Amino acid sequence: MPSTPVPAAVVDPAAATPAPWWTRATVYQIWPRSFADGDGDGIGDLAGIRSKLGHLSDLGVDVIWLSPVYPSPQVDAGYDISDYDTIDPLFGTLEEFDELLAEVHALGMKLVMDLVVNHTSDQHPWFVEARSSVDSPKRDWYVWRPQRPDGARPTEWRSAFSGPAWTLDEATGEWYLHMFAAAQPDLNWANPEVRAAVHALMDRWLDRGVDGFRMDVINHIAKSPASLEAGAAGFEMGAQIHDHLQEMHREVFAHRGDRELLTVGEMPGVSVEDAVLFTDPARRELDMVFQFEHVVLDNGPGSKFDHVPLRLTDLKRSLGRWQEGLAERGWNSLYLGNHDQPRSVSRYGDDGRWRYESATLLAAVLHLHRGTPYVYQGDEIGMTNARFTRLDQYRDVESLNRHQEARAAGATEEEVLETLRVRSRDNGRTPVQWADGPGAGFTTGTPWIEVPASGAEITVAADRASGERSVFDFYRRLIALRHDDRVVQLGAFTMLAPDDERLYAFTRTLGDERLLVVANWSGEPYELDPALDPLLGAALSAVPAGGAAPELVIGNVPGSSGPTLSPWEVRVLRA
Ligand code: GLC
Repeated sequence: MPSTPVPAAVVDPAAATPAPWWTRATVYQIWPRSFADGDGDGIGDLAGIRSKLGHLSDLGVDVIWLSPVYPSPQVDAGYDISDYDTIDPLFGTLEEFDELLAEVHALGMKLVMDLVVNHTSDQHPWFVEARSSVDSPKRDWYVWRPQRPDGARPTEWRSAFSGPAWTLDEATGEWYLHMFAAAQPDLNWANPEVRAAVHALMDRWLDRGVDGFRMDVINHIAKSPASLEAGAAGFEMGAQIHDHLQEMHREVFAHRGDRELLTVGEMPGVSVEDAVLFTDPARRELDMVFQFEHVVLDNGPGSKFDHVPLRLTDLKRSLGRWQEGLAERGWNSLYLGNHDQPRSVSRYGDDGRWRYESATLLAAVLHLHRGTPYVYQGDEIGMTNARFTRLDQYRDVESLNRHQEARAAGATEEEVLETLRVRSRDNGRTPVQWADGPGAGFTTGTPWIEVPASGAEITVAADRASGERSVFDFYRRLIALRHDDRVVQLGAFTMLAPDDERLYAFTRTLGDERLLVVANWSGEPYELDPALDPLLGAALSAVPAGGAAPELVIGNVPGSSGPTLSPWEVRVLRA
């Protein structure tokens, strides 16, 4: 029997196509070396993670992204992989991994693995075989170039970790490419055998039950060294990138359509226009990408180590453009911190007097944008930069190389240390501070990297016991809000007051529902202008015109309602 057609006007466009599950989800990143140590060797491990799953399930996160736990010489903290198919004994065993995965699933969460296939470790059997001879069947799995008569390198490309991106293999007399450390040779994705080997390893992890992949520097896989192009154009976003990702989707994901998987590609230098292509569901490439535009705004002309102050208007312009650019097609991932960035409250907020307020303000602003938010371990309690004062406290290869290069170029020790204090990746890599005490509740042994002085004060135990001033509790409420609220999940984004250097304000709108976020991004009080938005006008007027006063959904200053925002105050209102 023919059904009565529904008049088009009453169909809610947002309800017509069910939105993907990850529009409601929040992802939590575990960087395993520093999350929790179960065996007392000073390095975090799978047993430690298993002992802390309650913390993550209390927080309410939906997905855990686990940074690499595969066998690795640990030149780049596990991003140099020597075997894709098992677990480094440093972290545990494959059996323990299966148990962890089962526990994560039993708690209703998903687990996404890190896929690092732009490069391998130089200890990976593929590279060992490839470098053994120019005639090795695996030679072409990596990117080699012959010696030139003048001895010059094949291109002027620079490694992301200082120095040239080519190293001469003395034994065979050819150069191999490494966009990162010399111990991280780049795979040759132009070779179909390489692509098939990667698809096969992804298959094996998906068969084990993992729920997707975070793909490390995945826009670097399609390089064009053949043309010896200068600059980033040669290694970021080569012409084949979309083909490679579509092929991967076809080979690995397409036949698993019954499962809710997540794919997120890390893409330094990606533009909004490219991101639309990568994340348009119709193109079958990726669910979302990590873009870098907002985390390089405070880079100086030379590198991130020439730090310059960030202007709020630049940040708003950038994030606002991404909101706009991916409004119709594609999807944003939302992050301020991860294992490659300094602590967000130290970088964007005030990690002294206003630590609670600014940590929660940053969380509210980020989580209420349109996209999938990512929480980096420790940010949910407002952990701060390490502020190391001596070189021997640093562990990160990027920081150590930078020190060497800058000293060789004439910088003083104190100058280099100052830049590391602000921008070293180790700022975000110190142990999660679970409790007061020598190992910060992270380990019973000696931590592989020092627990900063803040470990005495900023801990999970103290934060969770601090009632109204718990950063953790604020994050928990934001994550729950996203689960339940369709405006947060899908509402259209509009930036307000783009030229204001202290106010970060925006609305989210879905049908006739609206959310307004007003955030005072400064350590001084801020006078709100009721004309900023009708919702604010209604909230600030004694007798709201035509109906109930807007509701305060969440805020970080209890009982506050007037026209003045306190330092680092955020308010979220709903009409
Ligand atoms: C990515 C990772 C970073 C790593 C690099 C090389 O940017 O996030 O930690 O050093 O790739 O694998």
